[in-house]
Amino acid sequence: MTSAGKVLYLVVCGAGPAGEIGTLVGLARQHGWIPQVVATPAALAFIDVPELERLTGRPIRSRYRSPDEPKPPRADAVIVAPATFNTINKFAQGIADTYALGVLAEAVGLGIPVVVLPFVNSALAGRLPFRQSVDRLREEGVSILLGPGAFEPHPPNGEAAPPPWHLTLTELARLSAKPHK
Ligand SMILES: Cc1cc2nc3c(=O)[nH]c(=O)nc-3n(C[C@H](O)[C@H](O)[C@H](O)COP(=O)(O)O)c2cc1C
Repeated sequence: MTSAGKVLYLVVCGAGPAGEIGTLVGLARQHGWIPQVVATPAALAFIDVPELERLTGRPIRSRYRSPDEPKPPRADAVIVAPATFNTINKFAQGIADTYALGVLAEAVGLGIPVVVLPFVNSALAGRLPFRQSVDRLREEGVSILLGPGAFEPHPPNGEAAPPPWHLTLTELARLSAKPHK
């Protein structure tokens, strides 16, 4: 699969770096994707909606459509960044109580590539439910960019490095180059 002209959903969660999601929009464009931002309700407090709509030329989606609204175009691939403790745990359990989680739940079932860039501190990352969520999602084929060489959790109340946004697109390119089973 090449990315040219394909729709990439960027699922943004409620964590500090959500305010920098414009960086990922720009990188996605450079890789040939058409970015569509999907925000969790919590993420709306962190992002500049009008600016992102101007950047992407598309409305930000953050809620399920009404039954009489047309279906949006389906994603060809999905990136979740920054991915919160909350969304990762709910995603692993198949909870779909936000539009973003609904997109993720269906994407895995449809075999659409999903890449997750977590942004959690070490207190949250060390919790058993989180570690189990990461393992379960990986078992289902979701790429979680967590660990050495990817996102490494920062200490609680400590300084956090900027997220390695570019790794999400490198990972998608790697997945796309793999022959489909
Ligand atoms: C200022 C602020 C920063 C936050 N940073 C993080 C974070 O880095 N990681 C995280 O997992 N949650 C963080 N949270 C908590 C989430 O916003 C909260 O769990 C929320 O329910 C996440 O919802 P979502 O997963 O639907 O986006 C932060 C909250 C606030 C108010």
